[in-house]
Amino acid sequence: MSRPFYVTTPIYYVNDVPHIGHAYTTVAADVLARYRRLKGDDVFFLTGTDEHGQKVEKVATAAGETPLELADRVVTRFQALWEKLEISTTDFIRTTQERHKQGVSHLFAKVLAQGDIYLGEYEDWYCTPCETFWTETQLIDYKCPDCNRPTEKLKEESYFFRMSKYQEQLLAHIEANPDFIQPKSRRNEIVSFVKEGLRDLSVSRTSFTWGIPVPGNPRHIIYVWFDALANYITGLGYPDEGGNFDRYWPVDVHLIGKDILRFHAVYWPTFLMAAGMPLPGKVFAHGWWTVEGQKMSKSLQNVVEPNMLIDKYGVDAVRYFLLREVPFGLDGDFSHTALVHRINSDLANDLGNLLSRSTAMLAKYFGGVAPQPGEATELDSAYRNATEAMVLQVDRHLSDMAFSKALQSVWEVISAGNKYIDETAPWTLAKNPAQRERLGTVMYYLLESQRMVHTLLAAFMPTTSAKALACLGVTGISGEALFTWGGLAPGTIVQKAEPLFPRIDTKEES
Ligand code: ME8
Repeated sequence: MSRPFYVTTPIYYVNDVPHIGHAYTTVAADVLARYRRLKGDDVFFLTGTDEHGQKVEKVATAAGETPLELADRVVTRFQALWEKLEISTTDFIRTTQERHKQGVSHLFAKVLAQGDIYLGEYEDWYCTPCETFWTETQLIDYKCPDCNRPTEKLKEESYFFRMSKYQEQLLAHIEANPDFIQPKSRRNEIVSFVKEGLRDLSVSRTSFTWGIPVPGNPRHIIYVWFDALANYITGLGYPDEGGNFDRYWPVDVHLIGKDILRFHAVYWPTFLMAAGMPLPGKVFAHGWWTVEGQKMSKSLQNVVEPNMLIDKYGVDAVRYFLLREVPFGLDGDFSHTALVHRINSDLANDLGNLLSRSTAMLAKYFGGVAPQPGEATELDSAYRNATEAMVLQVDRHLSDMAFSKALQSVWEVISAGNKYIDETAPWTLAKNPAQRERLGTVMYYLLESQRMVHTLLAAFMPTTSAKALACLGVTGISGEALFTWGGLAPGTIVQKAEPLFPRIDTKEES
């Protein structure tokens, strides 16, 4: 039976429409999901929307809608974008769904019954936009240390989660599992934070009503992060046993942005410990995008709208750029110039040209039929070895979430292909009938290497890869054979490829 693999994105707030930041995490998760499916794993890929809480309530009121009307409207924007971006989710969870509400109530009641949630009173500084309480010492000029906006002192009856009780257990877990929180720099931040001491966490509010009521005391609404984090299990049908929850939990990887690492690397694991459930395999926090050097924000009116980018440049170019341009884990800057440069140089020149040149030569010299390779020279073997090494490198890089490095490994083989053409000079071989077999070998190596390149690229650029593989006449191979040299059968009819990516005129762009 195939191996289960479970990957998640954050569930996005419906008080904002999707932008490239959201697309970034979701595309990355999609690449992992697609790659694992290629390898034959049994993948569950979950995304969704976070629809409760005071922020959503406020934005809805301002728009003259109920929070659910707002959510119903915005959720379609997310769903349509994911479809357009070819995101291959298994399920989409909304926190207003009954299945989620029931699961959250169950989890809360369970932790309450065992005594790790208790009723107390809260007095602290509250940042409404961040929905976070801060101690006085954490504030900077009485402003929120995260968003720099004013905070207000609030006192309210609240349920508390005994997070302090799990401090040592959490540290021990982080210590024993070096890959649990990644990248490493972020892990160190979390370790310092936990070592400073975990306080019990307020997990209910009485100041608003838009959310899931505390079981048995509906005056209290369950804190939005307790509600939201639980999506990762309610999306699997928790608390129902015997189904997806048993099969896929614990999750292999939660992909998130660095802004929400503490919730995922401290709150969530301690909730799970209290509930007696295994912890996530990995929490990976990627960096943030700025836009043309500036923070992306509504007030600066520089929010990059993914639909516009896809319409202009195509879905695969956008997917490629997001994962190639910046090492996952580091901050990066979005610019149109950089995107156009990537399209022209990596996609049109390197990737596209290689396929057009090879298939055009095959049409000319072999009538489009893949030849039988003859004996390999050193040059051929080096090219083949590089192609085979790429498969292992991509696998290693993807298990480290190093998407950019994985793509670099693929592009090394693409460059090697273009160089191989120059070095073997098929047009010269074609002039000499005595070199017919040699020419066949060269053509076969070119096509087979690209078959493996495009097999791997199916995870990153599904549409382009499908086009290329269709040209190469690749059908009906699966499993190990996909990644093994020799998958292209001699005799296969190969079509002449149209350019995969038209070059973008940079003069027109500026
Ligand atoms: O935090 N660069 O939802 P959210 C890169 N509902 N990624 C970015 C980004 C940027 N400039 N801006 C946003 C929430 N993101 C909660 C999550 S999970 C149980 C609850 C991405 O709509 C990044 O993944 O504010 C970040 O973590 C997420 O969007 C925040 O989305």
